[in-house]
Amino acid sequence: MSAAPKTIHQLREKKVVVLGGTSGIGFAVASALIEEGASVVVSSSNPKRVESAVARLSDSQQQYNADASRVSGHALNLSGDCEAALQAFFEQVGTFDHLVYTAGDSLATTPVEKHTYDTLVKSGSVRFFSAVLAVKTAVPHLRKGGSIVLTTGSTGEKPVGPGWAVVSGFAAGLDGLTRGLALELSAQGLRVNCVSPGAVDTELWDGMPEEAMAHLKSEAAKTPTGKFGQPHEIAQAFLYFLKDTNCTGRTHVTESGAHLGNRPGA
Ligand SMILES: NC(=O)c1ccc[n+]([C@@H]2O[C@H](COP(=O)([O-])OP(=O)(O)OC[C@H]3O[C@@H](n4cnc5c(N)ncnc54)[C@H](OP(=O)(O)O)[C@@H]3O)[C@@H](O)[C@H]2O)c1
Repeated sequence: MSAAPKTIHQLREKKVVVLGGTSGIGFAVASALIEEGASVVVSSSNPKRVESAVARLSDSQQQYNADASRVSGHALNLSGDCEAALQAFFEQVGTFDHLVYTAGDSLATTPVEKHTYDTLVKSGSVRFFSAVLAVKTAVPHLRKGGSIVLTTGSTGEKPVGPGWAVVSGFAAGLDGLTRGLALELSAQGLRVNCVSPGAVDTELWDGMPEEAMAHLKSEAAKTPTGKFGQPHEIAQAFLYFLKDTNCTGRTHVTESGAHLGNRPGA
């Protein structure tokens, strides 16, 4: 009998839910999972975006290893108290293997003196509070041996600039949340990890003033890798966490080497 592979095909026939999987990093994760032979359920708040993502992921002209039977999508708004909607969503999805949480609304960069209780809660709604509720409601449906991967951002370690304090606070909180959940959910046989990207070229920046975008790109050009991160590159970090069954409670940073400072001569 020939040997069975240990490191490839690990995600084949696994079922993965990607909340925020209709654009940017989440879409790239969903696409990489289809390449690997997994089944994917993508979700976000805009039904048209869900429809478009499912169509692109099912189209063999645009997606390697496309197979429409392995792709589905549901609209689900993760802003505000969405616990009941999440519960209904996971009931519909049924048993699955991994949860990837990449949902994020437009960044509420606001100087601290302008914040109120309500704006603070709103800032953390999709990225932090709903991530916790998603984990809570997903756990009863996750197969033992499965995992959860959350998303934070390098601003949690190094704030991008003035106005980013609250965004950075929630980002840093996700790192601690990951460790706490990893310990708590180990009793259920689940692992929890987190990916922290630096600047990545996604739809998140759509609507940013041209000048600010040009500045961001020129800063990215000075990093050791010399460029903005691309969604398919960041997707590798998510896939790694799904596959490394020895890893839990960790945040992986993928940020163009920006922590090292500028590339010599840049
Ligand atoms: N891009 C970067 O430079 C960067 C850097 C560091 C960290 N990150 C983090 O990485 C995550 C993904 O970002 P991205 O760059 O991939 O952004 P993106 O391209 O804008 O994707 C965000 C996803 O979240 C969904 N979403 C937004 N609001 C939602 C809501 N209320 N309910 C449910 N889904 C919602 C979006 O779809 P709908 O609009 O249809 O809801 C979309 O699928 C975010 O948490 C972001 O902060 C990004």
